[in-house]
Amino acid sequence: MAEGEPDVVATQLPDLSQLNLKRFSEGTSQEELDAFIDTIRPLLERVIAVFQGKGGQGKTSLATHKAALLAEAEAAKAEVGEPHGRVLIVEMDSQGNTHEDLGTGGDPLNDHGESLAMAVLHGQDPTIIRDVRPCLDMIPSGDELENLAAMLTGIQQKRGAAAWLGLAVALAKLVHSEGYAWIVLDCPPVSPEPQKLALVAARWVLVPVSVADSGSINGLGGVSKRFADAGRLNPDLELLGVVLFGFDHRFHSNRKTGERRPVGRWVEARKKVQTLLSEAGADAPVFNTVIRKAESVAITCRERGQLSHEVAESTDGVKWWERRRGGGGTVLPTERAEQVGQDYVDLTLEVVERIFVLEEQEAVMPV
Ligand SMILES: Nc1ncnc2c1ncn2[C@@H]1O[C@H](COP(=O)(O)OP(=O)(O)OP(=O)(O)O)[C@@H](O)[C@H]1O
Ligand SMILES: [Mg+2]
Repeated sequence: MAEGEPDVVATQLPDLSQLNLKRFSEGTSQEELDAFIDTIRPLLERVIAVFQGKGGQGKTSLATHKAALLAEAEAAKAEVGEPHGRVLIVEMDSQGNTHEDLGTGGDPLNDHGESLAMAVLHGQDPTIIRDVRPCLDMIPSGDELENLAAMLTGIQQKRGAAAWLGLAVALAKLVHSEGYAWIVLDCPPVSPEPQKLALVAARWVLVPVSVADSGSINGLGGVSKRFADAGRLNPDLELLGVVLFGFDHRFHSNRKTGERRPVGRWVEARKKVQTLLSEAGADAPVFNTVIRKAESVAITCRERGQLSHEVAESTDGVKWWERRRGGGGTVLPTERAEQVGQDYVDLTLEVVERIFVLEEQEAVMPV
């Protein structure tokens, strides 16, 4: 087994045919439900949800970049013939913004979330758009998820609390059959039902905070409420950390010593969020890496269906001086995109390190 690979195989894998919710009803005992949850949790150890109760905080951007970078590492292993896995990205938001980030909106398999809804509600196999990047697959999302909440009510009447395990079971089946090494879930900002489905499925939660104003801080409050709610069906759920998103990297340089000290809103935001986390008794860090503010990069990324590091590597844009000489075309913000791309790489390193450390701690101190 390669270093850092989850030891799923060593655990007793449930039979694939057991992975469905058909036997559950409102009358199912808590013990029976707990026993089922215990059988699926080992398959979900590498599921990361990106979650925030407020809109526009960077959830989707973080989810797509993280998934693509994790997949890149798997693809690199594949190239040198090492054992490797694949990565799956699933957006639970009917906005379908993952398509914009990854350029998959026009894919013939894009069913706008229809099969995802059917998988969650009725246990059907979801459509998978394969290889949206090397080693990265996607379950398409979109406006077909709009009625998920209403339809869940009906399923709840039939299956009781087990209805909330719909996404967890769908993903456990995929890990079982396809062997995904990582799954990244992009959560919607306000819809509580798909949020809860994601938190019931996830092992780890990443929370982005952009502009640490009262709204996004309240959004963090929403995180703990949803945590408590989902925790009953997911004993493994854990806040991995908070990511400061969309802040300028500002420093003050001491002319005499040459020392650089971070100053400005990113420093204040870190303090605010750290205070909030310790007040809530959360043992989770604010990650050192801050995704810098770069609106032109973000706009270019979604216009082109490319991630930051891909925009940085693009060569089809015109140089600004060519444009000044009267040449046509778009000047791509390649340098800035490279910096943002590096932020995502640094963050991914931190995130993966933290997961490995927590997994190791758990392995030596079984709960
Ligand atoms: N580094 C960045 N700097 C500034 N703006 C960015 C950056 N990255 C992404 N954005 C922009 O910020 C906006 C919100 O980003 P994103 O869609 O990732 O957030 P979200 O939390 O998923 O939003 P929603 O709640 O609507 O799902 C988008 O318009 C995106 O293009
Ligand atoms: Mg989003």
